[in-house]
Amino acid sequence: MTERTLVLVKPDGVARGLVGEVIARIERKGLKLAALELRTVERSVAEEHYAEHKERPFFGDLLEFITSGPLVAIAVEGPRAIAAFRQLAGGTDPVEKATPGTLRGDFALETQYNLVHGSDSPESAERELKLWFPEV
Ligand code: CMP
Repeated sequence: MTERTLVLVKPDGVARGLVGEVIARIERKGLKLAALELRTVERSVAEEHYAEHKERPFFGDLLEFITSGPLVAIAVEGPRAIAAFRQLAGGTDPVEKATPGTLRGDFALETQYNLVHGSDSPESAERELKLWFPEV
């Protein structure tokens, strides 16, 4: 079933010059780019994007980080795109959970600076895509 998912190359990934690496892996997997934008996100959008983490102790740091510089937002499309990108990304903790061969396993060390975000369910994907790409 064709799906869409929201991928973010977070500010750490942009700053480290890893945008091409992320896109190359998305494309090699067979997924398509439906929309793409380089953007420094306003705090209000970041708050809405991460609303489910509002009560977490790391919420403030997460907002600070995600608004700290440009990120690349991508609408990614393809069969089982949501799970397919999460497979490419690897687990949230880049050392304990992500395995080598995944983006986080290969390129990240800390959970906060874990390089990419991918929607975790069809409901999240719909909500996040509406927020980031209302026109798509
Ligand atoms: P992401 O997939 O974007 O979804 C929520 C984000 O919160 C996650 O990636 C991490 O960047 C961040 N996060 C989750 N858990 C922690 C944690 N324990 N400490 C710091 N940041 C976290």
